[in-house]
Amino acid sequence: MTAILDITTEAAVPTPTCRTIVAPGALARLPEFLPKLRPGGRVFVISDSNVAFRYSTSVYSALIDADIRSELIVFLAGEEHKSLDTAESCWRELSRHKAQRGDVIVALGGGVVGDLAGFVASTYLRGIRVVQVPTTLLAMVDSAIGGKTGIDLDGKNDVGSFYLPDVVLIDPEVLGTLAPRVFTEGLAEVIKYGLLDEDLLDMLEERIDELDTTEAGLAALTDIIAWCARYKSEVIERDPQETQPDGRVLLNLGHTLAHGLETATGYSQLLHGEAVAIGMVFALQLSAELGVLEDDRLMGRLVRLLRAVRLPEAYTGQVDAKAVLEAMSRDKKNDQADTTRFVLPRSAGSMKVQRVDNKLVARQVRYFLNPRSSD
Ligand code: GLY
Repeated sequence: MTAILDITTEAAVPTPTCRTIVAPGALARLPEFLPKLRPGGRVFVISDSNVAFRYSTSVYSALIDADIRSELIVFLAGEEHKSLDTAESCWRELSRHKAQRGDVIVALGGGVVGDLAGFVASTYLRGIRVVQVPTTLLAMVDSAIGGKTGIDLDGKNDVGSFYLPDVVLIDPEVLGTLAPRVFTEGLAEVIKYGLLDEDLLDMLEERIDELDTTEAGLAALTDIIAWCARYKSEVIERDPQETQPDGRVLLNLGHTLAHGLETATGYSQLLHGEAVAIGMVFALQLSAELGVLEDDRLMGRLVRLLRAVRLPEAYTGQVDAKAVLEAMSRDKKNDQADTTRFVLPRSAGSMKVQRVDNKLVARQVRYFLNPRSSD
């Protein structure tokens, strides 16, 4: 077959570079970090009902002071609103305000806002530039970085895009007002990086008790956030769209069971980070069962860290194991019907990505969720 056209184009869409800034007090300096607007261009701040009332005034006055026109688009907080309906209402608001490509969307909020606003930005007019301003620890260390966007249709993030923001602006000071449970769930993703890199694991074991929302805690956290943001940015640079066998996929450690649990419990029982904490324990157990785990001290190290910050290591509520398994098999990362892909730790900093037979997965999940069952 003779090809009519066969060319390779290298293009980083929408931006060739993504700048990530970690700086206490950065939120009030947002205008300094915005990409260049078209003449007369505007900033569309997309936020949720929790975050908007807390930060939109300071963001708005910073933009006014810098002579930048802005509009605020607010949707109801909660994973259940990370939906097509919410995306549509954001598209309609952008349309009503005649948003143009040279404008900029600022995603101000936690993971739900970042995913949804990133998705809206990537689709409206085929792409408006976006600046991610994460306001939760989980978003700062993970979801705001790397350009994964999405909404939930039948499963979590099953409609979305890869769309790198121009800028990720992280201001650790905003964590001071975070609800304790929401703060703590972010530590699960931090601990995940610890399993991926032993230097961080060592550091966390020394400093885990310092990591809180007091002034001293935030100073310690700033270092840890910067560490995680740098680590993830380096992974994204190597493997932006999760196509490499040992690249971005490793960041999904603990997420396979987590997504199943979150979906099966209707996003109402567990926060994402709590589900990831449980998912990491499961991944380690599965790794041991399959003979992949080499360092038998690793489970103890993980559980000690989870306990130190009061993150769950098991799911103790009622959940239908069948629904969890079904949600896991529908996960977009699984392209084969009879196996499920897992990131399995060998030791701190060494992972193996392996497809596991679904019959074995089902047995392990049932036992994990209900260790007393005879099934
Ligand atoms: N949270 C995993 C990733 O961004 O790839």
